[in-house]
Amino acid sequence: MANQQFTDIGACVFDAYGTLFDVHSAAARCRDDLGEKADAVSQAWRVRQLEYTWLRSLMGRHADFWRVTGDALDYALEAHGIDDAALRDRLMDCYLELDAYPDVKDALERLKGAGLKCAILSNGSPDMLESAARGAGIAGLFDALLSVEDVGIYKPHPSVYQLAVDRLGVAAERIAFQSSNGFDACGAASFGFRVAWVNRFGQQPERLPGTADAELASLAELPALLGL
Ligand code: 2OP
Repeated sequence: MANQQFTDIGACVFDAYGTLFDVHSAAARCRDDLGEKADAVSQAWRVRQLEYTWLRSLMGRHADFWRVTGDALDYALEAHGIDDAALRDRLMDCYLELDAYPDVKDALERLKGAGLKCAILSNGSPDMLESAARGAGIAGLFDALLSVEDVGIYKPHPSVYQLAVDRLGVAAERIAFQSSNGFDACGAASFGFRVAWVNRFGQQPERLPGTADAELASLAELPALLGL
């Protein structure tokens, strides 16, 4: 699909996990201990983590993303026959300092250099977001780190996206929202953001309401999309 430039953008809002931060970098750092199960554990961890956010939201039983991430890891480790409390703690520690994708910092610096407001809007709890942004050396490039903890329900509930409108004081149609998570791109588009789906892994589109306005291979393409 040919991307049409986004015009009159007042703020750039980014999903965190999978978009800025590589969620699989935690298991990669513990590959010596996880051995050949590393990739399967990491995939199961991520899948359960997202599923638990959706299920808890449906159940009306919110718990923060740190708790959900720990529960999902426990499930994934048990599913792969791993019972190792020290390894579990190491994996959780690594989740606080995930690697940022290599295109992230440069893209953010270009947006900030052009005077654009930048923020994270994520399922992550405030502590997790602060830690990850600091660890990746990009904390200073954001005007706000917005967490679903302030609304008590997970993406893609519309009240999560409304949080960015309220906190940034920018109308939905003037917010460029970037996510690599297909369901999040759909949710944000359905809400009314201008959405760039950062399709890092060449996935097929989700069959959900809401269609992204643009598809990028990485955030390196974002400045051009914004006419910078
Ligand atoms: C985030 O909100 C969806 O995990 C993703 O950061």
